[in-house]
Amino acid sequence: MSRWGRTHLTPDLLEFIRTWLPAPPASVIEVGCGDGRLTAHLRERGHRVIGIDPEAPEGAPFIATTLERFRTDDPFDAAVAIRSLHHVGDLPAAIDSLHAALRPRGRLVMLEFAVENVDDAARRWQAEVGLPETRTANMHDVIALTEVRGALGRRFRELAFEPGPYLAREAEREDLLGRELAAIEAGELRPVGARLAFDAIEPDEQGARSAR
Ligand SMILES: C[S@@+](CC[C@H](N)C(=O)[O-])C[C@H]1O[C@@H](n2cnc3c(N)ncnc32)[C@H](O)[C@@H]1O
Repeated sequence: MSRWGRTHLTPDLLEFIRTWLPAPPASVIEVGCGDGRLTAHLRERGHRVIGIDPEAPEGAPFIATTLERFRTDDPFDAAVAIRSLHHVGDLPAAIDSLHAALRPRGRLVMLEFAVENVDDAARRWQAEVGLPETRTANMHDVIALTEVRGALGRRFRELAFEPGPYLAREAEREDLLGRELAAIEAGELRPVGARLAFDAIEPDEQGARSAR
């Protein structure tokens, strides 16, 4: 168990974030920061960081706002979005806003949920290991990962796409991550999550992309 107790911020995820973020003191915006644990971690590592979330903790370095509404005059070097982009209300507006908040070629690092891969095999595996079932019936407002990636493609270039475990992390059961990975590798389970990294495309490249 990590120093945060039960957490989704497992060492492999922190390592992925460390690998893809520009080195401190690069400025970072955490999108959908939740309780702010990762924002605090990045600050401890020496990043200049803010965390935004409609439900953000009070006070600096947090701002209570949606990504769609967020504006800055001082573009950030990078952004992290952990389990958050599939929740936004207006995906194209959120991605435009994120792109505008980053400097040209700014880095975006994400952990995302692939709701489209939650199937009977996933539910069987959850029952087998004693995790609560992910109920997709009431998840109409959760955006599929294929849609998130498609929308990001207008403004960001994908550098890394690593499908992998999510169910154990979502339940804050780090002890089950290895079992979930083994089930995915054995072909018994579809990957319900993915780690991704992107670079913001510059305006002239966007023109070239849309002309193709
Ligand atoms: C599953 S939680 C993830 C929180 C944190 N990143 C984590 O991994 O524990 C999703 C977060 O996204 C936030 N969120 C929802 N809609 C948002 C939006 N439009 N812009 C920014 N954050 C949003 C929610 O308030 C929530 O804190």
